[in-house]
Amino acid sequence: MISLIKISPSVLASDFSRLGSEAVKMEESGADYLHLDVMDGHFVPNISFGAPVIASIRSLTKLVFDVHLMISEPLKYIDDFKKAGADIITFHIESDSPVEETLDKIHACGCKTGLSIKPGTPADAVYPYLKKTDMVLVMTVEPGFGGQSFMYETMEKVTAIREKINALGLKTDIQVDGGINPETVKVAAKAGANIFVAGSAVFKAEDPKATIETLRNNASI
Ligand code: DX5
Ligand code: ZN
Repeated sequence: MISLIKISPSVLASDFSRLGSEAVKMEESGADYLHLDVMDGHFVPNISFGAPVIASIRSLTKLVFDVHLMISEPLKYIDDFKKAGADIITFHIESDSPVEETLDKIHACGCKTGLSIKPGTPADAVYPYLKKTDMVLVMTVEPGFGGQSFMYETMEKVTAIREKINALGLKTDIQVDGGINPETVKVAAKAGANIFVAGSAVFKAEDPKATIETLRNNASI
C-alpha cells in the first residue's frame, strides 16, 4: 500500500533574493511541502544556508518545512532546525552522527524523521531503521547541487525498500530527490516513491502551478 503523494519544491532553485515570496508562491501553487536543502561545504562540496534563513520565512507560509540536512554532524543541530520551524528533518546515514540517536532526537523534539541514502549506498543500509523513521529519502543524484540528471539506476533501491516496508506492514514514506521532472516522476512513482522533491522543474517553470499539478498527476498514473 503506497502512502499519499506529496510534492516538495526545493528552494535551492529559487531566487534567494526573494526567498519569502518564492515560498508563498509555492503554497499558492499547490505544493504540499517546501524542501529546504542545508549544505555545510563538508558533507557535500557546496554551501547553501542554515537555520536562521529557514526561521526568517517560517511565519510566511503554512507549508510543511521538509529540511534536508546535507551536513556532517546533524545530531548537533537538530534543536536549531526545530526552533527554526522544521516539520520534517532528514539527515544522511553516511553522516558522522549515530543514526538511532539522531532519529530519536528528531522525534523527541516533535518532528518527523527522514533517513537519506546517497546513490552509492545500498538499500539494505536503511532496513534496520525502517520501523524508526517516518520517511526514507533515496537520492536520485549525488547530493550537493540542483539541476543534475536523474539516475535511473537508483530505482532498484526504491523498489527494494518499498517491498521491505510492505513486508513489515509499515506505511513509511519514500522520498526521491534530484532530477525529478514530469517524466522521471512517473518512473520513481512506479518504483514505489510517494514524495517527490523538484527544484529546477518547478522553480524554472513558466507556470509552477501547472507543473506541480502535472507532477502530481503523473505520479498518480
Ligand atoms: C541536491 C538537493 C536537491 C536539489 C534538487 O543535493 O538535495 O534537493 O535541490 O534539485 P533538482 O530538482 O534541480 O535536481
Ligand atoms: Zn534535497
